[in-house]
Amino acid sequence: MRRKLVVGNWKMNGDRARNSTLLDQLLSAMPAGVDCAVCAPFPYLPQVGELLAGSGVALGAQDVSEFPDGAHTGDVSVAMLADWGVHFVIVGHSERRAFHGESDGVIARKAAAVLAKELVPIVCFGETLVERESGVTEQVLVRQLDALAANLSPDALQRIVLAYEPVWAIGTGRAATVEQVQAVLVFVRRWLARHLSAPERIRILYGGSVKPETAGGLFGLPDADGGLIGGASLVAESFLEICRAAARAAQGN
Ligand code: 13P
Repeated sequence: MRRKLVVGNWKMNGDRARNSTLLDQLLSAMPAGVDCAVCAPFPYLPQVGELLAGSGVALGAQDVSEFPDGAHTGDVSVAMLADWGVHFVIVGHSERRAFHGESDGVIARKAAAVLAKELVPIVCFGETLVERESGVTEQVLVRQLDALAANLSPDALQRIVLAYEPVWAIGTGRAATVEQVQAVLVFVRRWLARHLSAPERIRILYGGSVKPETAGGLFGLPDADGGLIGGASLVAESFLEICRAAARAAQGN
């Protein structure tokens, strides 16, 4: 049985005072029955890690280098993240793909680097609006997923978390409908079944304008295992309500 997982992606937001207030509010009311994590900007990982210690909420980062060390100015290695107690690492977010030119291959190699150090990559994939409207969504998703299969051993692939984030739904207030999400999840589960011996163990999150009002429907889908939450993870009550929706969906399954 897969446990629901709700991950807050703070993106480039926060400061020491706001982080502390947000986490105080979250930790005082976090529901049971759901796994939860927050992915903070690099400079705040020590602070957030300390505040989360012993809480059951996991620490996550938003990106990582594919390289282990050396002359990569400005980059951060998996070992450095592990040193600060990071458990999850988002890789392949569409903002990294779009603004930093990250290719499917780079993203797959980042996922491999994360897995090699026993951390867990949350690998984002998803189509743009143009791709959806031109009817090539499935080809795009397969291209993104095939890069993972080409760069990860079956054992490594078995330990990833996937996050379906249609680019057109991110930060737009226009979440994908439950029908659209379920169709993609079924498609991805078929892909997983072709590549893994235990595909049913892989968690697939949905991300893109998830709000307290829409979370229940999305998390109630049979193939959805939780969410990757941007804007709503910066407001304690919204994020808590989304976590509660996941806990309720877990009970319903
Ligand atoms: P929003 O929830 O703000 O749409 O962002 C989603 C996202 O990109 C999470 O990684």
